[in-house]
Amino acid sequence: MADKQAFFDHIEKGYTTKGEYITLGAAMLEGETLTNALVKIPLKTMNRHGLIAGATGTGKTKSLQVLAENLSEKGVPVLLMDMKGDLSGIAEPSPGHAKIDERHEKIGIPFTAKNFPVEILTLSEQNGVRLRATVSEFGPVLLSRILDVSETQAGIISVIFKYCDDNKLPLLDLKDFKKILQYATNEGKEEFSEEYGRISSASTGAILRRIVALEQQGGDLFFGEKSFNTDDLLRIDENGMGYINIVRLTDIQDRPKLFSTFMLSLLAEIYTTFPEQGDSGRPELVIFIDEAHLIFKEASDALLDQIESIVKLIRSKGVGLYFVTQNPTDVPDAVLSQLGLKVQHALRAFTAKDRKAIKLTAENYPISEYYKTDEVLTKLGIGEALVSALNEKGIPTPLAATMMRAPMSRMDILEDQELKELLKESKLIKKYNETVDRESAYEMLNDKIDIAEKKEAKEKAEKEKAKVKRSSSRSSSRSSRQNPIVKVLSSPTVIRSVLGILGKLLK
Ligand SMILES: Nc1ncnc2c1ncn2[C@@H]1O[C@H](COP(=O)(O)OP(=O)(O)OP(=O)(O)O)[C@@H](O)[C@H]1O
Ligand SMILES: [Mg+2]
Repeated sequence: MADKQAFFDHIEKGYTTKGEYITLGAAMLEGETLTNALVKIPLKTMNRHGLIAGATGTGKTKSLQVLAENLSEKGVPVLLMDMKGDLSGIAEPSPGHAKIDERHEKIGIPFTAKNFPVEILTLSEQNGVRLRATVSEFGPVLLSRILDVSETQAGIISVIFKYCDDNKLPLLDLKDFKKILQYATNEGKEEFSEEYGRISSASTGAILRRIVALEQQGGDLFFGEKSFNTDDLLRIDENGMGYINIVRLTDIQDRPKLFSTFMLSLLAEIYTTFPEQGDSGRPELVIFIDEAHLIFKEASDALLDQIESIVKLIRSKGVGLYFVTQNPTDVPDAVLSQLGLKVQHALRAFTAKDRKAIKLTAENYPISEYYKTDEVLTKLGIGEALVSALNEKGIPTPLAATMMRAPMSRMDILEDQELKELLKESKLIKKYNETVDRESAYEMLNDKIDIAEKKEAKEKAEKEKAKVKRSSSRSSSRSSRQNPIVKVLSSPTVIRSVLGILGKLLK
């Protein structure tokens, strides 16, 4: 029997924080919860990323909910990727339950039911604030990575962006981009080869096919206006609570490409627009990705590289990224090695492969004289987890099997009527949900082609006329071989980031 008092002191000492913190629950030893042996995570290290893992039904999503709520309560805004659509209940207070009271009595903190300020966002046509970005903002580098094209094709994509930049053609949606690609090898062939070198139609054809594949995954819904301003994720309500922004992604599960496109563009946008964070002692924004294996699934190597580098860099902007997934091995090693907080729920040992995975997982936790980590991993109950965090000095805290506190808000989803009410209140819906289809490359090029064609027809007709005339008088009319005039449109989108938001980053 280990010395309970010594363990209590070990936890108390290991989890003492000077600055602000959130409480996850109380430490457990040999299956017993030690009341008031509180597991506290300093806000200061919450931008150091994290992982919530564990077998199905062990409490991962509830742990995510607990973390999100407590951050919001401390005035830290949160962004949740809700794959299963089970998080909207955060907008309503928990109805409470005898089991919840029992849990909290063991932990030693009172249970309070509470609701949180919630904004619902969407990538598709579901109800919620539409999240969109323009192709211009996305930039050639990211677009090439997402389309997973060859280097030559990536070169062509850059040329297309450059052409649009030079000619002030706004690239808003995929329709625009496809139009330019076609133009470059058809009507605009001469113009392109004069200024930028010849573009082969085989290459543009290959790029077009990739774009069509992206469209089939709903990419046409994501690209366009009005593009979302990431500052709107940082709202604090009138009571000083951080907004919990929930992206409903229930219809995205079978469209991993759209999801990774969106995640990458969001992270890149945050990286380029958020200021470097000084030592404010708290994160600016914390992002949770439930069912995180979906962004890594089917991601090309180039895309994975991109995600890894951005995960590393975004920390300095005060943004914490938390991956929630069944198996830690779902997350690439390079990302895993950067994680500060780990909340590991129970793992099940059905097969030899499972047992191997458990051993491996156990080895990734700090050694503790109080636990046989691999054994504890299989014995944890629902809503219990092994926790290891970083203290304010950035040193790992003692490993603690933790009885997690219960969410203050409701553990299930909003009813339709509740959701409607919530959406009705939303200021962001008013801002983002009108559909804008302002004149962009597609229309402008069509005009240009039109003008050119009309001009050609006119010239031809004039020539014919002249021929007839010439035969009588010897006067000739010379056609002007001027380029068609492109209407100049000073688009903030073009100016904002035509060279790609990640251009800087990838040099
Ligand atoms: N901290 C907690 N407090 C109270 N109850 C909890 C807690 N964690 C989990 N539970 C209970 O366990 C159930 C399952 O939890 P949860 O949905 O978080 O599991 P999960 O690991 O996300 O499962 P899945 O892999 O299927 O997504 C919850 O519906 C809830 O009843
Ligand atoms: Mg879950």
